[in-house]
Amino acid sequence: YRRLRVALLGAGSVGSQVAALLLQHGPELADRAGAHLDLVGVAVRDLDAKRDTDIPRELLTTDAERLLVGSDIVIELMGGIEPARSYLLQALNAGADVVTGNKALLATHGPELFEAADQVGASVHYEAAAAGAIPIIRPLRDSLAGDRVQRIMAIVNGTTNYILDRMDQEGADYADVLADAQRLGYAEADPTADVEGYDAAQKAAILASLAFHTTVPLDAVHREGITGVDAAMIEAARKVGYVVKLLAVCERRDDAGVESISVRVHPALVRREHPLASVHGANNAVFVQAEAAGNLMFYGAGAGGVQTASAVLGDLVSVARRRIAGGVGVGESTRANLPILPIGRARTRY
Ligand code: HSE
Repeated sequence: YRRLRVALLGAGSVGSQVAALLLQHGPELADRAGAHLDLVGVAVRDLDAKRDTDIPRELLTTDAERLLVGSDIVIELMGGIEPARSYLLQALNAGADVVTGNKALLATHGPELFEAADQVGASVHYEAAAAGAIPIIRPLRDSLAGDRVQRIMAIVNGTTNYILDRMDQEGADYADVLADAQRLGYAEADPTADVEGYDAAQKAAILASLAFHTTVPLDAVHREGITGVDAAMIEAARKVGYVVKLLAVCERRDDAGVESISVRVHPALVRREHPLASVHGANNAVFVQAEAAGNLMFYGAGAGGVQTASAVLGDLVSVARRRIAGGVGVGESTRANLPILPIGRARTRY
């Protein structure tokens, strides 16, 4: 087999699992990829930080830029906009392929990265950027590329689903359950990104861009979190057969032949019989309604280090196959250029 040099940026909960799985299953992944995937280094901020897995000391470096030089594939799991953006542009400009789980970066600078990749025939893969372990990026980009997606309704934030689910099941109070979610490690220490819907809005921008073959910037996503949801609302919804879920809704509109889309994150009432009502705990699910395919649902772990690492390694194998085959970029198709509607009178009952 040919040898491909793989650089990993970041060794947090997902990155450390990616390193461990890659080292553990190297030969098997090589057979699947048709190439040896040599982990040449792992860039970290602190060499001595405590990590979830043991990464051989000689692989760790604090010099990310140097690690990028000569790499064939760069996996970015550092999060945040900078320096991740600069590193990935540097990698793409040098002809490397990129695998990233960085939803904040994709939702704000996706087009810049895709264009840089197109310039050199490289590609950007990001299955881990929305809904963790759930395969949803490739289904939207590839499997459904011949169909027309009408609407996506998705539970893409595990923390808020955990909170709303416990409020629904136990009649618990928001503040108590949030404290539990923090203790269990679902919510961040500062849970604003989760409970105010910022995390879900980033994922909605990514899913809508793929589903409608257009560019949906983060600031075009209407966002409302769950901090205003209380026990009385959940009880009132229950009485009439509904459950409250924080949904990311991406919808195609057609007003007398003029097409547009609406992308929004807000608490919604979901019928108890709807498949999304059965998504409990910190799980995620993406319910897709497509013109020809009908209704599809993708369900599973939306977060978690080892679960999300599965999506990253899948991207790594497919990018390696593509590199071996001498393929060109996967080509984000964003040519539809659809107008994005403000929320207006969006429906909140499903
Ligand atoms: N905080 C996120 C969640 C993690 O709760 O779903 C995955 O993005």
